[in-house]
Amino acid sequence: MIDPYHFANPILTTIFNRRSVRNFDEMPIPQNIKDLIITGAMRAPTAGNMMLYSILEVDSQEIKTALAKTCDNQPFIATSPFILLFLADYQKWYDYFEFCNVKEMCSRLELQYNDPKESNLLMCFVDAVIAAQNAVITAESQGIRSCYIGDIMEHYETHRDLFQLPKYAFPAAMVCFGYPKHPEPLGQITKRFEKNLIFHKNSYAPWSLSRIREFHADITTTRKIPTKYSELKNVGQYIYKFKSGAEFSKEMNRSVKEMLKNWR
Ligand SMILES: Cc1cc2nc3c(=O)[nH]c(=O)nc-3n(C[C@H](O)[C@H](O)[C@H](O)COP(=O)(O)O)c2cc1C
Repeated sequence: MIDPYHFANPILTTIFNRRSVRNFDEMPIPQNIKDLIITGAMRAPTAGNMMLYSILEVDSQEIKTALAKTCDNQPFIATSPFILLFLADYQKWYDYFEFCNVKEMCSRLELQYNDPKESNLLMCFVDAVIAAQNAVITAESQGIRSCYIGDIMEHYETHRDLFQLPKYAFPAAMVCFGYPKHPEPLGQITKRFEKNLIFHKNSYAPWSLSRIREFHADITTTRKIPTKYSELKNVGQYIYKFKSGAEFSKEMNRSVKEMLKNWR
């Protein structure tokens, strides 16, 4: 692996020092810094320059407290001084196309008119998440830490009603921002898998048994199973039980399926 510090500059320092932080100081984030973070998000690349997302700030303590529950009971959410929701948002284009009589144009020119479909949703998702990460890095540059909340994809109906989301808008990402509590614990950068387990060239290198063994050896060095789970025999079983196969995952699957009905 290369040593990123060999190439040191402020941008790389920001990227390589970023970590998820869940322990926020009470200090509010000044409005001009909030605006900077949002402006940073909006400078992200965006498909066709369409900005297929919307950014929704959660300012209300009542809503933050509700989200701390609906997002798989994560109390720290309620302590974040600045929460942004990045909505995959095709609704505005749908409405705009209507305003521009696109259906009439399609029938006049004998073109097929397509309602928003899954591919539009995925493109909106990509746009929204890239914007979210630009917000994260902009915040980092100002000493503000953050944490994504994937669980915002759960309880679609509740969140739809809470935020009055239209049919073609869905929260792709939620990010909690805040100044970290001082002093910040050191050595908190999380380890990543080795490059050869992630990187492919030209074609996908299949996960052969030896590659899986290598992955297992790698992951076993960083993820320890708490001793109280003696019924779990390895890291894969532990991660499945508490991530992919956990109750929150089932709820997320149900919720996303429900939302997808809008896009067919
Ligand atoms: C899509 C996504 C969803 C995440 N959801 C949560 C979450 O719900 N709660 C949480 O505490 N951290 C969440 N995280 C943060 C990850 O746990 C974190 O990025 C990961 O453990 C690596 O740590 P690092 O960000 O400090 O490098 C999420 C991160 C991403 C990218």
